[in-house]
Amino acid sequence: MPTNRKTGLGLRHSLLVVPLIAMVVGLLGCMSLEQMAPPVDQNLVQLSAALDAPVRADEATLARGRHVFINRCISCHSLEPVNRYSAEEWKTILPEMSEEANLTEGQQADLLAYVLTARRFIDLYPQATKP
Ligand code: HEC
Repeated sequence: MPTNRKTGLGLRHSLLVVPLIAMVVGLLGCMSLEQMAPPVDQNLVQLSAALDAPVRADEATLARGRHVFINRCISCHSLEPVNRYSAEEWKTILPEMSEEANLTEGQQADLLAYVLTARRFIDLYPQATKP
């Protein structure tokens, strides 16, 4: 029946719009993903190469670390921006939270390298991650 079909489409449409609005409000009200977790670009890779182990890492390691960070650290709480904690604080927090997230040792190492490089990056270039 034409009337029913129209209602059905309308409902489906509004079901798509609600999360979209929530996402836009979220992005406007909070920090962007790029601010919370800077992307792995050549600036980040070059910075990491100049740091000491275990923070020094190659592009693939950093990319894996970021992937872990933005996908595995959001199941219990929202993403914590990399620059919310000092490097010393992260060194205590990350092992605890890696256990919470059931990360492998390799994933933990990737995550540590990414988070510490990214927070150092924001320290050095705060304007690079401003909206
Ligand atoms: C299984 C649930 C769970 C997962 C997965 C998880 N967390 Fe947490 N996280 C918690 C809980 C619960 C707290 C608050 C209590 C605490 O500090 O233990 C917390 C607190 C934190 C804090 C605040 C710590 C502080 O001292 O104030 C940070 C930062 C954090 N998590 C980062 C992460 C990161 C990074 C990951 C991914 C590796 C992660 N979390 C994955 C449950 C989780």
